[in-house]
Amino acid sequence: MVKICCIGAGYVGGPTCAVIALKCPHIPVTIVDLNQDRIDAWNSDTLPIFEPGLQEVVTQCRGRNLFFSTAIDDAIRAADIIFVSVNTPTKKNGLGAGFAADLAYVEAATRRIAAVAQSSKIVVEKSTVPCRTAESMRRILEANSRDAIRFEILSNPEFLAEGTAIADLMQPDRILIGSLPTPEGRKAQHVLADVYAEWVPRPQIITMNLWSSELSKLAANALLAQRISSINALSAICEATGADVDEVAYACGLDSRIGPKFLKASVGFGGSCFQKDILNLVYLSESLHLPEVAQYWKQVVDLNEYQKRRFAQSVVSRLFNTITNKRLAVFGFAFKKNTGDTRESAAIAVIASFLNERAHVHIHDPEVSAAQIELELVQPGVCTQAVYDAQVHRFADPYEAAKDADAIVICTEWEQFAQLDYQRLYDSMHKPAFVFDGRLILDAPKLRQIGFQVEVIGKPAAPKPGFNA
Ligand code: UDX
Ligand code: UDX
Ligand code: ADP
Repeated sequence: MVKICCIGAGYVGGPTCAVIALKCPHIPVTIVDLNQDRIDAWNSDTLPIFEPGLQEVVTQCRGRNLFFSTAIDDAIRAADIIFVSVNTPTKKNGLGAGFAADLAYVEAATRRIAAVAQSSKIVVEKSTVPCRTAESMRRILEANSRDAIRFEILSNPEFLAEGTAIADLMQPDRILIGSLPTPEGRKAQHVLADVYAEWVPRPQIITMNLWSSELSKLAANALLAQRISSINALSAICEATGADVDEVAYACGLDSRIGPKFLKASVGFGGSCFQKDILNLVYLSESLHLPEVAQYWKQVVDLNEYQKRRFAQSVVSRLFNTITNKRLAVFGFAFKKNTGDTRESAAIAVIASFLNERAHVHIHDPEVSAAQIELELVQPGVCTQAVYDAQVHRFADPYEAAKDADAIVICTEWEQFAQLDYQRLYDSMHKPAFVFDGRLILDAPKLRQIGFQVEVIGKPAAPKPGFNA
């Protein structure tokens, strides 16, 4: 019987190991973190992250074979398999600042394992990391290992998307397990594969070498983000020509070589992974002296910045080139629907430019707290505390947020935003009342009938007769 420990109780480690515990009731799984508050939340009825279905999984397993703790050393000693799921943010200072991943947390966790282990371990790199991180981990572990204690390193990247994490974990497209091409490496690969085989069909559990596995994770995220930047680039052409980006995406998606998924135009992608992973790839390409390759991937991020800027600018220009002292109701602050996560959310950049134009911003998001909004907005390059206090308000009720506003700006694709009573919203707003749909989720013709001026990304401003609006 194996025992599992997971270091890092975040968006990746928490749901992943909770599902392992659910599917493998005979395996004890302990998730540890340095952050006592986070662990307390995992042990309470209010989990630290919002993820549909997660509460049910945790409730079923917690105390049975799933444990949350800050006793990191004990959990390391007891485990046979240790997942490293700590954060790997983009470096803020020093060499590679703004591009390279900050591996300080991975290194600290690895050193801890080396320091306290009293038996051999399989150490699994779960956080998304730059290619060859496993090599650094291996060197740290080997340099610190003692007699008869062996460490095998595996790369087992996680492909879950937030908002659908539980479904993604229960029915993954594939599980990748990378190892060194040694007999011990392959043996460790099999041990981990047996864990997943409890619920994932064997053909979907793919083994490969360590570097391929690490690069596959970066590549998959880069390709996904590139599709969004591609459709967003087309959305600008659509607006300028009268084509409809949804129609273009539908037509292209019917080509079986292209496929329909991940072609929804938007105000821009966000989340903790896409930008970070592409910048990692850019940094890697530059370090390998491949400037053309670096430039190619960098353009995916640049286009995303452009899309956010373009959307914010269109709001200002449609509101008669000034939003000073106007109220703008921003619906959605999370980086996508069905999550409370705000990391790299497009809403942040959009709101930053509104604040810069001295507008009053009324934010409504079903899952994001006022404290979280403040944490994201009061930052260098976004806004000062004084600007935040004077110009930003968070509303639990969307109707309150839109009262006396000049415009509603949709930044997140929460389904409930399409279900609101737009007549009621319209009646309480300044006229002309505008809606800017950055997610293509609203019924624009219906809103126009109510009297709204409607702008939708990738769609013609005023539909001409004979065209489908
Ligand atoms: C992503 C990957 O999908 C996942 O496999 C990986 O493990 C982590 O990174 P995540 O960031 O959680 O997951 O969400 P995802 O659904 O990929 O969305 C990322 C961003 O792209 C969101 O802001 C989303 O709104 C946006 N998006 C997505 C679009 O704008 N259009 C689309 O068609 C799809
Ligand atoms: C293309 C489109 O596929 C087709 O739908 C359109 O009508 C005309 O343009 P074609 O140029 O005939 O068709 O061939 P295609 O199979 O698309 O290949 C184009 C080039 O891409 C070839 O040089 C091919 O070798 C190359 N290719 C294709 C790759 O290098 N890798 C691939 O995975 C696929
Ligand atoms: P991700 O989205 O990759 O899961 P998060 O930031 O949500 O990232 O979670 C990472 C978690 O890892 C945080 O809760 C952080 O406190 C924890 N962590 C970071 N370093 C260590 C460490 N050395 N030991 C234990 N936990 C750590």
